[in-house]
Amino acid sequence: MADIKQTKPEKDYSVYFQRTFVAPNLKEARRRRRQAVRHLNDFSIPDDIKGIGAGKKYLIRTYGCQMNEHDSEVMAGILEEIGYTSTDVEEEADIILLNTCAIRENAENKVFGELGNLKQLKRENPDLILGVCGCMAQEEAVVNRILQKYQHVDLIFGTHNIHRLPQLLKEAMFSKEMVMEVWSKEGDVIENLPKARKGNVRAWVNIMYGCDKFCTYCIVPYTRGKERSRHPHEIIQEVRELARKGYKEITLLGQNVNAYGKDLNDGSYRLSHLMDEIRKIDIPRVRFTTSHPWDFTDDLIEVLAKGGNLVEHIHLPVQSGNNAILKIMGRNYTRESYLELFYKLKKAIPHAAITTDIIVGFPNETEEQFQDTLSLVEECQFDGAYTFIYSPRPGTPAARMEDNVSMEVKRDRLQRLNELVNELAYKSNARLEGEIVEVLVEGASKKNEDVLMGHTRTNKVVHFRGPKSLIGQLVNVRVTKAKTWTLDGEIVAEQEAANQ
Ligand code: SAH
Ligand code: SF4
Ligand code: F3S
Repeated sequence: MADIKQTKPEKDYSVYFQRTFVAPNLKEARRRRRQAVRHLNDFSIPDDIKGIGAGKKYLIRTYGCQMNEHDSEVMAGILEEIGYTSTDVEEEADIILLNTCAIRENAENKVFGELGNLKQLKRENPDLILGVCGCMAQEEAVVNRILQKYQHVDLIFGTHNIHRLPQLLKEAMFSKEMVMEVWSKEGDVIENLPKARKGNVRAWVNIMYGCDKFCTYCIVPYTRGKERSRHPHEIIQEVRELARKGYKEITLLGQNVNAYGKDLNDGSYRLSHLMDEIRKIDIPRVRFTTSHPWDFTDDLIEVLAKGGNLVEHIHLPVQSGNNAILKIMGRNYTRESYLELFYKLKKAIPHAAITTDIIVGFPNETEEQFQDTLSLVEECQFDGAYTFIYSPRPGTPAARMEDNVSMEVKRDRLQRLNELVNELAYKSNARLEGEIVEVLVEGASKKNEDVLMGHTRTNKVVHFRGPKSLIGQLVNVRVTKAKTWTLDGEIVAEQEAANQ
């Protein structure tokens, strides 16, 4: 068994193994090199791989954030280009890819559970290719565990190796041993990768990759590499194309979109400039995520305040309301400066919904420090919040800190925080009762085929009755009943909406 902890950075083991075997290396992943990133259009399928998937089926299971959702669309695009078609049925699949997330331990446990479940399937169908990719593949400890305990995995590739899927897949098909290629140094920005998008109403658009913030608890800067922005003209062309195809909403994606453009040319073209151009494209709704309070500049607020297709929703993770904790987290803002930004946004965009992310039980967090988080949440009256118990991530600075807070206390804090968050979410929904909101209809509700579901501009979920022909349309809906996480409503006639 190869112990990859002993390996040198990015060493290619193929000379020994007669197959691709490049293991991840966290130390390498931490390094930030000055080298300029190349922007290429050189993706192509080699002749000997074309059609390799004809008659075969793929299944991709995606965990984690929107970045991963979109990466899965790229992988699906690549697989379709070599002949595969998609399936939702495991037993039908010739290749199953688990596109994984490493953000918290429970995200990882889900994947290990799934790998365990798939053992039987692989036994019954030895020709099945089982692949692990995404952020977990970038972690040494995870890859070691797979090598030791999950030898039925055929293929492991990293977040920087997606464009290599055709070659790696072919190798995995013909090799008896596991094929692995995980680069710990980010690669080029490749513009011409195919994409098989899910749905034809809303679309993801990457504007940048990676993260340089290195919040002390977070694994993302290690799994996604340094910040690399796409060129504005490439992004704008993609958005125009989506508009032309009839998409109604796009979400601009990056781990910290406010850092957009810092790494391009002289760094003067930033997110505010990009949004100001995208604002003029004829697509009804434009969202962006995620926005770190760091780098949230006044000129960006000014552009957002112009409205139009730039919707009134800002996801602005705060993580904690206590300055000492924010400092140890390395967030680079204080409670006061967060609040200042928050009020600036509320003033510039009065009906904006603001949502956030919060971590409880950071190492040695005291009850008083937690109370600061509660009071900040109370003050901001967030429309919604994703709340998490801190999870130590191997290799990050916070994971090396001693921690005197028991899991019981952390759970109790999470519960108290959630009670407050739910109460505020309900309150913000209740304010909409009787109002008319614009809803982009996405499909039938999961629970009831006869009910339609869509989002408001402020990203609230609305359920209402109406014909399926409305899917993909913007409709006016009167809110009849507020719930904690969703709204019920009824369609209003066009004339009535115009009179409002
Ligand atoms: N780039 C985004 C966050 C992406 S990760 C930002 O900084 O705003 C999404 C959320 O997961 C984070 O906002 C944080 O609340 C949570 N998170 C990240 N690492 C975590 C960890 N080690 N334990 C618990 N929650 C974590
Ligand atoms: Fe993680 Fe911080 Fe980067 Fe967000 S900004 S991805 S929390 S390191
Ligand atoms: Fe998870 Fe990676 Fe996204 S760790 S949250 S899938 S960037």
